[in-house]
Amino acid sequence: MARTDAESLAGFLTGLSPETRRFSTFDGHDLAAARELCSAIARYDKLRLVLEEEASGGIVGLLEFSLSLPQNDVARYRKAGIHLDEGTDCRFGPTLADEHQGKGLATQVFPLICEVARRLGKRRIILWGGVLADNPRAIRYYEKNGFRTVGSFTGPDGQRSLDMILDIIPR
Ligand SMILES: CC(C)(COP(=O)(O)OP(=O)(O)OC[C@H]1O[C@@H](n2cnc3c(N)ncnc32)[C@H](O)[C@@H]1OP(=O)(O)O)[C@@H](O)C(=O)NCCC(=O)NCCS
Repeated sequence: MARTDAESLAGFLTGLSPETRRFSTFDGHDLAAARELCSAIARYDKLRLVLEEEASGGIVGLLEFSLSLPQNDVARYRKAGIHLDEGTDCRFGPTLADEHQGKGLATQVFPLICEVARRLGKRRIILWGGVLADNPRAIRYYEKNGFRTVGSFTGPDGQRSLDMILDIIPR
């Protein structure tokens, strides 16, 4: 994502349906939120990849990595017998525009996601914030791309989410 992407990114965020917004939990969905995401480039521990549609040039997906691991994630995974390590583990969260969901697009680009993670020196990917238990398409997406469920937790809003992890196959 480049700093000049804010308007295009705002178009993507404002177009998201209420359901997709609930599943993906961005801080906001307007130009200010898009500017905030763009100004975060190279400032924090996040790496955000955008998917652009060739014909329109519009952003149709945002694929986010976080290279830091919050302590509560580390503690939850430890309970499941998995010892997370910031050197080799990262968090991932994808969001596609509604009209592009369920067509295999995020699966098509998944090898690239793994390649980016590998280049960052990562060996495993966990879900950023887990996946809501009532989001069957995302759960199926992760499962078919090799993630396994390691546990579940209830968020501050009372909603149940699953923790999932993927071992990246080395090249
Ligand atoms: C989750 C997301 C990134 C997946 O990308 P995608 O390109 O839509 O995923 P794919 O089309 O490759 O795979 C979806 C799978 O779920 C299946 N599916 C779709 N709706 C389903 C449902 N209601 N119940 C069960 N499976 C469902 C599809 O059939 C497909 O599986 P198949 O290939 O075995 O048939 C995308 O749908 C999205 O952005 N959703 C909204 C935001 C979101 O939920 N982000 C994840 C937050 S954790």
